[in-house]
Amino acid sequence: MSTPILVAVAWPYASGSRHLGHLGGAYLPADVFARYQRLIGNEVLMVSGSDIHGTPITVRAEDEGVEPIDVAMRYHHEFVAQWDALGMSWDLFTTTGTKNHSEVTQAMFLAQLERGHIDKRMSEQLFDPERERFLPDRFVEGTCPHCGYEDARGDQCDNCTKTLDPTDLIDPRSKLSGATPELRKTEHFYFRYSDFNDQMRDYLADKDRWRSHVLNFSRGWIEGEGLQDRAITRDLTWGVELPVGDLGPGKRIYVWYDAVIGYLSASQEWAEKSGDDDRWKHWWHNDEARHVYFIGKDNIPFHALFWPAQLAAVGDALGGEALHLPDEVPANQYVTFKGGKASASRGVGLTIAEGLDRFQPDALRYALAANFPEQNDTEISEEEIARRINEELAASWGNLVNRVLSMIHKTCDGAIPEPQKLAEVDRELLAKIDAFLATAGEQFERVELRAALRTAMDAAQAANQYLSATEPWKLAKSEPDRAKTMLFTALSAINGIRVALAPYLPFSAADLDALLGEPTGWVRDELVVGTSIPKPTPMYHKIELESADD
Ligand code: MF3
Ligand code: ZN
Repeated sequence: MSTPILVAVAWPYASGSRHLGHLGGAYLPADVFARYQRLIGNEVLMVSGSDIHGTPITVRAEDEGVEPIDVAMRYHHEFVAQWDALGMSWDLFTTTGTKNHSEVTQAMFLAQLERGHIDKRMSEQLFDPERERFLPDRFVEGTCPHCGYEDARGDQCDNCTKTLDPTDLIDPRSKLSGATPELRKTEHFYFRYSDFNDQMRDYLADKDRWRSHVLNFSRGWIEGEGLQDRAITRDLTWGVELPVGDLGPGKRIYVWYDAVIGYLSASQEWAEKSGDDDRWKHWWHNDEARHVYFIGKDNIPFHALFWPAQLAAVGDALGGEALHLPDEVPANQYVTFKGGKASASRGVGLTIAEGLDRFQPDALRYALAANFPEQNDTEISEEEIARRINEELAASWGNLVNRVLSMIHKTCDGAIPEPQKLAEVDRELLAKIDAFLATAGEQFERVELRAALRTAMDAAQAANQYLSATEPWKLAKSEPDRAKTMLFTALSAINGIRVALAPYLPFSAADLDALLGEPTGWVRDELVVGTSIPKPTPMYHKIELESADD
């Protein structure tokens, strides 16, 4: 039976280039999981888009003297080109700047307002008297009350990393004008997250299978401070417009309230584009569906607590049925980047563009997947990426495929040979491959993508050991029929291993599909005897790094 799977992927801020850390933390695991789900026959809807609101974008626009939309579209186009180069299989990658997204956000807001989960409150906020505007947290700088660092931002001190409230800063100054900000009264809408504390406790009660760091964090929040009401509007002119005029001009919806709604609005945009406006309901109004959110750990509260509360607060007001809450939030820890010349100078690691410059897309995907930070922060470097590619991907898998295809091409008249009866050692290898494939499938079901890749590579290792043990090249002349049966066996093994690797390596998978046919599912299909096997070319280049000190 086929299950509708929503693969929901964190929306990258279109405020700057994204790094390999973002890729390995959220986007790539999502793509690997989605490709697996499609292979086993489920109905996957994988959506995301550029998060174009929020102060990172307005700050950059102010710095550059351009409009926020210019910054947002520049990076949105960069992302879209990179997704293509990386083989990201989005069903839709849109932006939060569409009319559709505003409409869905406003509809949710109105439904929640109507049901009493949004109210208006007065608060005091810092105001720039020279520019005559309220200052978002990041637009205020001053001295950190904890460590004395003089350039702390209103939301956080970069020196001691403590989170701050802009009113905590000593000698605060406006980033826009340098003026000393004043406290002024301002009215905002608040979402009453506290209304949902008990419901969210129940929601988390059956999530024992979640990664422990995600579960502990989320349950700890509920049992600790609990869900607090939060302002969901800001004194800004950049963001989704309010559907009600109560607050007067100069107010917009807060970025974190609207961005998560992107999962729903993008599903609707996708449905509309598919020619069936209601098709999104198959994922969102369906208890049988499975919704899996791929995010970094800094996004956990927004996805495991706030977004489920926002969804629950709508009730059946959107389309007449309750909306499906997140089933799984397999948040990753951080990928940190160390070593290598490119990172040393800037301290930020390689951007996705730099990664694509240096490595083949499948090779980059492989190295990142082998280091997915599923349980712990994981440090990578250019050397580590190169080592993974050379010693594992190229040496173990690429070389296996290349050797077997070359031998078949040379010694079997360029076609898959008819085997004789398989020997014990042959059957043993294939049984092992099938068992590895089954194990990888279970790991995929548990979203253990790093372990599933390890399993696939163990399968490749088993095939390599089979070749070293049986040495078919030595029998080509003396026992050609036995040699052909061994090569048939080795290629059969490859036919299974490539299925387990396909979610990680879409470009090489497509090449092998062209040669061996598309797999029919998460299985090792029988080879078609007589299929022609042309002279192969190596799938992966070895990486040569310049020595670290030049
Ligand atoms: N833009 C946020 C970030 O990069 C992620 C937003 S995820 C969403 O951290 F769901 F809110 F869109
Ligand atoms: Zn500090």
